[in-house]
Amino acid sequence: MDKRYAIILAAGKGTRMKSQLYKVLHEVAGKAMVDHVLTQVERTKPNKIITIVGHGAETVKNVLGDRSEYALQEEQLGTGHAVLQAKDLLLGKTGTTLIVSGDTPLLTWETLSNLFEYHATRRSVGTVLTAKAPDPFGYGRIIRDHIGVVEKIVEQKDATPEIARINEINTGTYVFDNALLFDALSKIDTNNAQGEYYLTDIIEILKSEGHTIAAYQMDSFEESLGVNDRIALSEANKLMRHRINQTHMVHGVTLIDPESTYIESEVEIGNDTIIEPNVFLKGKTVIGKDVFIGSNCEIRDSVIESNVKIRSSVIEEAVVKSGADVGPMAHLRPKAEILENAHVGNFVEVKGATLGKGSKAGHLSYIGNVKIGKDVNVGAGVIFVNYDGKNKYDSVVEDHAFIGSNANIVNPVHIGKNGLVTAGSTITEDVPKESLAFGRAKQVNKEGRAKNYPHYKE
Ligand code: UD1
Ligand code: CA
Repeated sequence: MDKRYAIILAAGKGTRMKSQLYKVLHEVAGKAMVDHVLTQVERTKPNKIITIVGHGAETVKNVLGDRSEYALQEEQLGTGHAVLQAKDLLLGKTGTTLIVSGDTPLLTWETLSNLFEYHATRRSVGTVLTAKAPDPFGYGRIIRDHIGVVEKIVEQKDATPEIARINEINTGTYVFDNALLFDALSKIDTNNAQGEYYLTDIIEILKSEGHTIAAYQMDSFEESLGVNDRIALSEANKLMRHRINQTHMVHGVTLIDPESTYIESEVEIGNDTIIEPNVFLKGKTVIGKDVFIGSNCEIRDSVIESNVKIRSSVIEEAVVKSGADVGPMAHLRPKAEILENAHVGNFVEVKGATLGKGSKAGHLSYIGNVKIGKDVNVGAGVIFVNYDGKNKYDSVVEDHAFIGSNANIVNPVHIGKNGLVTAGSTITEDVPKESLAFGRAKQVNKEGRAKNYPHYKE
């Protein structure tokens, strides 16, 4: 097979986004647009990938890392000028070069592969990926001659009213013979409405030199959506959400209402899991089989094993082992580990803590910096006091311990196996195994004295 190279254009500022963040770093389904593009490009197996960076070069490089090589475009003089920056890295190479924009996040590797193939069968020196747009405004238009051969591409701002009516658009994706690409790029000028070096001008240049140019029109316009502003960004998110949700449903996940289920690109979900509306699954979350995720949950970068039940909760960088149940209204924060069959109930916050197998924290607790063993009961309103204003301290609660309601466990303490902390105690010292600990004031009753108080009635 012919050698393949790829150039991703990602140097633009994205003025129309009105943002501090560089355009190609805006996220679609939780992943930077340029990362989506790179992921699909990688799957076409190019011998070399070069990303053109400029605005926010360092930030873009940090996001993509060593998956790509980089060429710097110091001034953004247009898409043609951007591609030219890859010249040194591709000089003298024979093969086919794919050019794709960092702002078309929905393009798939299947389409890119079809484009390479079409290009090869047509024996053209350049092939443009085109689509029919319901509203072509803003895109470059494809001009074909009377027998349908591509002649040139005209940008929106350079279009006559007649050209503006053409609805076949340039998706900004092309393949070119590598040597001819850079040869033609040296001939473009800035003679246009935007005073920029247009990549699209090389079509006309190559044609005038007698080369064959082809256009490959794909079926779906949606894949070619170019994101230049926030309106297109929301449209891209919607389309990507639909695509992701379809994939999960095909793999056996029940989504009660896919329209209101927000699953980011990297999330994995096992079959027979049921997800109710208004759920957000983010980052590198992995969810097992037969899990129930009730409405209004937000789960990020967490592992949820099989047969877990979660209702209306926020879970971040946490692990929930199989058979456990969480919520409603629980908050699992980083390094919370809920082991097999444990129960975390309403208004319970867990952070940097392990709740052992079969243990229960049913109501209104803060469980911070503690390792709790198995079959421990954490009563209502128990607080692990883990912070003295400067440092955090850790406690340990051994198996089968029982912590009465409204106890304050002041870290660091060790509560031994089968230890019992009475309700309302403030525990500042270790509780040996099998011991009963009182850490509260002794009750005193003053007979008849309640008569002096306003609540009193005969
Ligand atoms: C471009 C095409 C247009 C096509 C559309 C598809 C040109 C002249 N126009 O227009 O025909 O219909 O894409 O979405 O190519 N960039 C750089 N350096 C620059 C300028 C741009 O790296 O100097 C990058 C941008 O970051 C972006 C991509 O190139 O990722 C496209 O640039 P953009 O300004 O969005 O071009 P469009 O106006 O959308
Ligand atoms: Ca664009």
